[in-house]
Order: sequence, then C-alpha cells, then structure tokens
Amino acid sequence: MTKRIGVLTSGGDCSGLNAVIRAVVRRGVGGYGWRVTGIRQGTLGLMTRPPDVEDLDFGVNDATILRLGGTILGTTNKGDPFAFPMSDGRPLDRSTEIVEGYRMLGLDALIGIGGDGSLHILRRLAQQGGMNLVGIPKTIDNDVAMTEDSIGYWTAVAVATEALDRLQPTAASHSRVMVLEVMGRDAGHIALAAGIAGGADIVLIPEIPWRLDKVKAQIDSLKTAGRNFALIVVAEAVRTEAGVHVTRGQGGAQRYGGIGHYVGETVAAATGAETRVTVLGHVQRGGQPVAPDRLLGSAFGVHAVDLVAAGKFDRMVAWSNRSVIDVPIADAIRQPHIVDRDGALVRTARGLGICLGD
Ligand code: F6P
Repeated sequence: MTKRIGVLTSGGDCSGLNAVIRAVVRRGVGGYGWRVTGIRQGTLGLMTRPPDVEDLDFGVNDATILRLGGTILGTTNKGDPFAFPMSDGRPLDRSTEIVEGYRMLGLDALIGIGGDGSLHILRRLAQQGGMNLVGIPKTIDNDVAMTEDSIGYWTAVAVATEALDRLQPTAASHSRVMVLEVMGRDAGHIALAAGIAGGADIVLIPEIPWRLDKVKAQIDSLKTAGRNFALIVVAEAVRTEAGVHVTRGQGGAQRYGGIGHYVGETVAAATGAETRVTVLGHVQRGGQPVAPDRLLGSAFGVHAVDLVAAGKFDRMVAWSNRSVIDVPIADAIRQPHIVDRDGALVRTARGLGICLGD
C-alpha cells in the first residue's frame, strides 16, 4: 500500500542532515514507491496553515545535496509547541495544531531528525496525537544516549581539529598560548576528540572540574621542556573555577559563550604567557559534511524508512558497534550521553600527557 511519510529537521542544524533527507527519499520513494513530504522549519511547518511542506522527489534524489551543509528543509530551536513563544511573550500550548497538521496531510508516519530536546518534544506530540514517529539523532554535541554517534558530530570534530592545525603554527611563531573555545552544550565530546586529534596540551570539559594550578603546572612543564607555545581547548559549557557558567544574551535566550576568554585571561595572569583566544562558534555546524556524517546519514535514513515499512514506531535509529540498530526513543532521551570520565578517550588523553585540568 502506498504510504505518505513526512520528514522534518528540528533543533540546531548541523552537517549531514541533507544526507539523511536524501536517504529517506531514495528509500521511501525509490525503494518503496511511497510519497515523501518534507516539512519546513521543523514542527513549525505542521503548525502553519496550510502546512508548510514540499514533496521530495528526484530533485533531492541525486547526489548533490549529499555534499551540502545545513538542511534544505530549514529548522528551528525556538518553537517548543507545548510552550510556544507568542508575539506578546506569552507561552501557548499549540501542540494540537501540529497533530492536526499531520492529519491534514494524511501522513502515515513522521521521521523526525533531532537532538534530545527535539526528540523529547516529538515523542510527546506523537503520544498525544497518535502519530507514528521514528527518530533520527543529530547534534554536533553528540550527547544523545543509546547511539555512539549522532549526525553532525564528526564534521564538528573535523572543523575543531582543523582550527588547532591552523592555530599551532601561529602559536609557535609568536610563542603564545592559544585557547580554542568549542561548542558542546553540557558535553565535552567535541573538545576531547578534537583536542586529541589536534594535538592539544590542555583540554577542559564540563565533565571534569578544572583547577588553574594544574593548567599552570602543565604550561610551566612544557616551558621547562623547551616548548614555546601551548594549545588549550575549552568546551563552552566548562565552568569558571568558581563553578559558574559563562553565558551571553538575556533571559530565555541565554547561550554559552565566553569561557575561552576567561581561561585566556586567567592563564595569562597566572603564567605570564601571552594568550590569544579563538571562539569557533557556528562554523562547527556548517560546511560540507565529512564522510562519516554522510555515511551515518545514509544508513540512518534507510533504516528509519525500513522501520516505517515494518510498522515499528516510537523507535530511534542508532549507531552501535559498526552497525545501525534501533532503540526505544524513551531510552535515548532519558538522560544525556556525556563524556565518560573513565572512558577510552579520557584514558587516551591522559596517556598522551594531555592535562584535563584535574
Ligand atoms: O546543540 C547544538 C549547539 O550548537 C550547541 O553546541 C550550542 O550551545 C547551541 O547549539 C547554539 O545554539 P544557537 O544556534 O541557538 O546559537
């Protein structure tokens, strides 16, 4: 029987989303002969009247969008339908409009590509409205549980690693300590992986509280060993020594940002070193997806459509042990997957002599 399935991207964008969309179309339209409807701007597209959608067909079936960063469908990380921000500032529950939009389109299932926040919202909507949901994890932060990797993570790691490749020669030329602040809301995965791959001397992550005297000791010992520069990577969610997050913006729009400058200034004062700070920001989310994100996106998209075909819903596709599996969405959103303080990468960093600030 011909089905009509919807696909949407929700939350912050990242590289590899278009590879997922393409795979959903190839499998859904090409493989099963179904109709695949792209929903624009995440759940906002289902809230709009008429729903803001487009049929996805061979335009996205070629290999062009596989290489594109961002999402051809658009997305938002501000439209929680259960507390939708109205123009007068009041939050309004608009969840029923979304379920209504799903029904108006005659969708048999919805494939939602999102991080833990989006998957949480989509699941609540699905349960409330009886929508058939399959989730696909994406986030540069890589903090969705039950999957080893999420879409976008490896591209962000590649960008942060390249930043270190570029910072190292200028650090050495000027005898400076370079601080690189990377993203990762409440998880240090990007900082740790890029720090190892990019040869950092110090990596500060939110999972491991740091001390200035430990950072100073590392810089002093590098100096004693004849090194004239140092590379520090700090994740945006790292707290100051006083245990405070550094944020920017106001009210509900608070975002992490600024811990890199705090570290740069405190390290300069403690060691006398000349420091410079680079805040990498959203470049980690854009650009061409690296091969692992295209691969993951393709595998996830195909498996998600196969789940719909098998009538298996309320499941999230996941990467485990070089294989695509699926798990209950509820298990994936129960708690975020943060860096394991005793895990392989922490042990690798310590084994390499990288200071983790403790
Ligand atoms: O969750 C992804 C992420 O890029 C975080 O790493 C970062 O803190 C946040 O989104 C930035 O959000 P925005 O795009 O709203 O500035």
